[in-house]
Amino acid sequence: MGRKFFVGGNWKCTGTTEEVKKIVSNLNDAQVPSFDVVEVVVSPPYVFLPLVKNSLRPDFHVAAQNCWVKKGGAFTGEVSAEMLVNLGIPWVILGHSERRSLLNESNEFVGDKDLPWRSLLHKPKQLQRGYQTGLMLSWPMSPVWAIGTGKVASPAQAQEVHSELRKWLHANTSPEVAATTRIIYGGSVNGANCKELGAKPDVDGFLVGGASLKPEFIDIIKAAE
Ligand code: G3H
Repeated sequence: MGRKFFVGGNWKCTGTTEEVKKIVSNLNDAQVPSFDVVEVVVSPPYVFLPLVKNSLRPDFHVAAQNCWVKKGGAFTGEVSAEMLVNLGIPWVILGHSERRSLLNESNEFVGDKDLPWRSLLHKPKQLQRGYQTGLMLSWPMSPVWAIGTGKVASPAQAQEVHSELRKWLHANTSPEVAATTRIIYGGSVNGANCKELGAKPDVDGFLVGGASLKPEFIDIIKAAE
């Protein structure tokens, strides 16, 4: 069962309006493989979501970097998944290690946020509905020692961990979910190391941090070819 290559760009907490416009302009001008081959999703800071959503080429998608539980309400400072979907943004990064280590997000807290998604995992027939309700269906694997350090996992190390994660999915969800879930690698991916990493059978793409702000992000997208 095919898994379309996925390249996510996590811009983290960086950028000015002018810098964001420049990145979007570079992406819009880039020659990249078609959507049939690679799915590209960029994740700007919240304040830039409408700007990016309204100016980015339509074959690239936009994600938020965090959200609240599905329903909104009296949660000052938070943004709900429903609001993202209303804005036309059906993707979100949940439980990034930086939010866990710096903002003390626990497994339980993150679990509450993605509970609807995890419920859907047990109902594979409803996976398509998961996309429509704004829940992310790729599973990032980022060794914390590789994030922003320039130290990247070797392709063999990444493959070993991704393979174990897929076995876990097989045992704990269903063979179909294990076969269709994209397990993406994050941690110092760049234009020089992406091709070899992406060639591993269980590496279904990347979550790119620092390099997603640079022109080499295009080279990483092309690793799907
Ligand atoms: O979200 C992306 C990961 O934290 C990796 O970041 O590519 O800057 O190491 P990085």
